Amino acid sequence: MSEFVRAVEASRVPPGQMLTVEVAGDSVLLANVDGKYYGMGAMCSHEQWDLSEGMLEDTSVTCAGHGTVWDLKTGKGAFDEPLDDEPLYDVKEEGGFLYVRKR
Ligand code: FES
Repeated sequence: MSEFVRAVEASRVPPGQMLTVEVAGDSVLLANVDGKYYGMGAMCSHEQWDLSEGMLEDTSVTCAGHGTVWDLKTGKGAFDEPLDDEPLYDVKEEGGFLYVRKR
């Protein structure tokens, strides 16, 4: 996914909300933080819980599974054991849709 791929209507990710979408075989977590969109791998690398079921606070996502706190800017998770980073995606809005591209 080196080019931007259309993911979903932007209206489905209002401010303060997250949504998991499947794009080109990847599960991507889309988050809207005060109108700015972020994209990160959606399945927690701890035990694969869907991060859209967690809690969004600023650019941190707390996994509903066991509480890992993920940083949408870096893809790094804070937990009491090392975890693989989540992949990051660029997100752009165009014509009412969100497009994602893997970094
Ligand atoms: S599955 Fe996310 S913290 Fe365990």
